[in-house]
Amino acid sequence: MIINLTYYHVADHVPETNPDVAVVIDVLRATTTISWALKNGADSIQVFADLDLLKRSAMKWDTDKRLMLGERGGKKLEGFDLGNSPLSVTREIVNAKRLFMSTTNGTKSLKRVQNAKHLFAMGLPNRKAVAEKIMSLDIENVLILGSGWEGSYSLEDSLAAGALASYLNANCIFKINILNDELQAALALWKYWENDILKCLKTATHGKRLTSLGDYEDDLRCCSELDCLNIVPAQVERGVIRAS
Ligand code: MLT
Repeated sequence: MIINLTYYHVADHVPETNPDVAVVIDVLRATTTISWALKNGADSIQVFADLDLLKRSAMKWDTDKRLMLGERGGKKLEGFDLGNSPLSVTREIVNAKRLFMSTTNGTKSLKRVQNAKHLFAMGLPNRKAVAEKIMSLDIENVLILGSGWEGSYSLEDSLAAGALASYLNANCIFKINILNDELQAALALWKYWENDILKCLKTATHGKRLTSLGDYEDDLRCCSELDCLNIVPAQVERGVIRAS
C-alpha cells in the first residue's frame, strides 16, 4: 500500500477535493491551543469564521459549560473569555466545557477541509500522536493544510508539515509518496530546523508579531515542544472537534 501526502500552505490553495484525511496545522497557535485544551479535559471545540454566529451558538449553551475563545491579529477579542494562548486553557478553566473558537487563520483552514472523511488538528506537541493515528487508518490520501497568515505562507506551519512527513517516512510500513513541491520544501525545512524548533518559531513572522505584542516567550516555548501530547483532535461533526 501507498500513502500519498500533499501539503498546501493556506486554505485558498486547496483544490476542490474531499481527501480521506485532512490534517490542519496552525503551530502559532490555534491547533496547539486546541490540542492542549482537549488534553486538559475540554469537552469539545466548535470552530467559527463568523463571530456573530459564534456568539449566538454559545448563548444556547449553559453558562457554566461554555467558553468563548477569540483572537484577531494575535490579540484576544473583547468580550471573549479567552484569547488563543495554549497556556490559558488550563484544566481549571476548560474542563468539561465546550469552547466556541474563532481565530484569524487557523479556524479558516479547519473550515476549508471540513468535508474530509477524517479531519485532525495538529501542532508540534501532538505530531507523533497524529502520525500514529494516520498509520492506523486504512487510507491512501492525506492532505496537510497549513494556516499561514491572512492568505500567505508561514514558516512554522511548513516546519510542522515537514515534521509530520518525516515521521511518516521513518515509521510507516507503507511507502510514503510526497506528491508536491510544497511538501518537499517542508521536509527540507524540517531537516534544517529540527534541532532548534524554538529558534525557527522566533524567526517566523508570526513569532515576531507575537513577540512585538508582549511577553509571548512561554507561548512560543509551549508551541515548539515536540511529541509531548498524546492527543488527536478529530472532527466528530461538522465544525466540532473532540479528542480521539
Ligand atoms: C491564527 O489562527 O491565526 C493564530 O492562531 C493566531 C494566534 O497566534 O493567535
